[in-house]
Amino acid sequence: MDNKWPAFESKTGLAPARGVSLRRFSSLGIGGLAGGAITVDDDRTLRTVVRTAGEIGIPVKILGGGTNLVFTDDGFSGLLVRLGEQFKKIEISGDRVLSGASVPLPALITRTMESGLSGLEKLTGIPGTLGGAIYQNSGARDYETARAVASVTFFDAGRDEIVTLPADRLEFGYRSSGFHRRRAAILSAELRLTPAPREEIMAEVTARMKYRNSTQPPGRSVGCIFKNPPDKSAGRLIDEAGLKGRSVGGLTISGLHGNFFLNDGRATFRDFEELVAIARETVKNKFGIDLELEVEIVREIQNAADDGPIQNGKSVAGRRDAENRPFRRWKISGEGNFI
Ligand code: EPU
Repeated sequence: MDNKWPAFESKTGLAPARGVSLRRFSSLGIGGLAGGAITVDDDRTLRTVVRTAGEIGIPVKILGGGTNLVFTDDGFSGLLVRLGEQFKKIEISGDRVLSGASVPLPALITRTMESGLSGLEKLTGIPGTLGGAIYQNSGARDYETARAVASVTFFDAGRDEIVTLPADRLEFGYRSSGFHRRRAAILSAELRLTPAPREEIMAEVTARMKYRNSTQPPGRSVGCIFKNPPDKSAGRLIDEAGLKGRSVGGLTISGLHGNFFLNDGRATFRDFEELVAIARETVKNKFGIDLELEVEIVREIQNAADDGPIQNGKSVAGRRDAENRPFRRWKISGEGNFI
């Protein structure tokens, strides 16, 4: 990998920060080192970065707010890309709202509320960026991001072009979207909101904020760890299994909400894996229910072709290392996505 970075720098004229700690890119605050990290300010630079990294064999991971990502202790050898200036803009005219992918969801909720546009207030309390919320179709129990989205514009890395698709072509599901299967970077979205009195929107924001603050803990976490099984709450199952307060190393299951794991600052990915296993096993034994991860684990295995078949593995089409062996990606959450 080492000679790849000078090649990347000379081909693009860009200098990613090298060997930075992944802890500051995830709200859980765990992880080893990143090969490189860069912020791109416009879509031309994004294309150059993705194309060049692809040619050289550097895996690319697009970051939103990092509020649903878990990195491993081994780190990530590829390039983390954050979307800068161009992607932080909001344009509102009438009830038409166009927002960049990097806009923090809370800021977008405030802006649309101020413009008397209703829809996003139901997402109050969800951190992260609009791009991340679309990628994951973030939501509360009774509402999800997809319902407020009219269309999404993204960079399709496979075709090397910018594409806009309406929401009904984006395969939104529960905490999931078609972007989990695409090599793509979400750039912006047009929203579908409806005019409403500001006071009404504000009342909804306040009520939801209050509910969140009384049911979810502050501190270093990635929100809900597991998806809710059909008609059940994963948090309640973990609670009823008697697991609140259970710790492994620096990671503890919150006493307030069973689906939140809190890092006291010392947690490692090994702690995370062990606590996830304990929760899964206990809930399975007690209720016969399999919990599925909701958070995304970013982990890669290089040259995996030599290591035999990989569980949940998927070959990264066309990407080969210096010795012409294919890269693979390994997804234990089933949701990891490199482009
Ligand atoms: N409950 C317990 N014990 C707990 C946690 C919850 O008994 O430890 C009970 C609650 O009292 C309530 C029910 O379970 O009766 C549901 O709890 P809550 O309203 O907190 O919702 P949830 O299903 O646990 C979902 C989302 C959250 C979102 C909340 C609030 C998922 C996996 N979780 O949680 O999303 O904030 O609704 O709308 O869909 C996230 O995506 O990261 C996330 C936190």
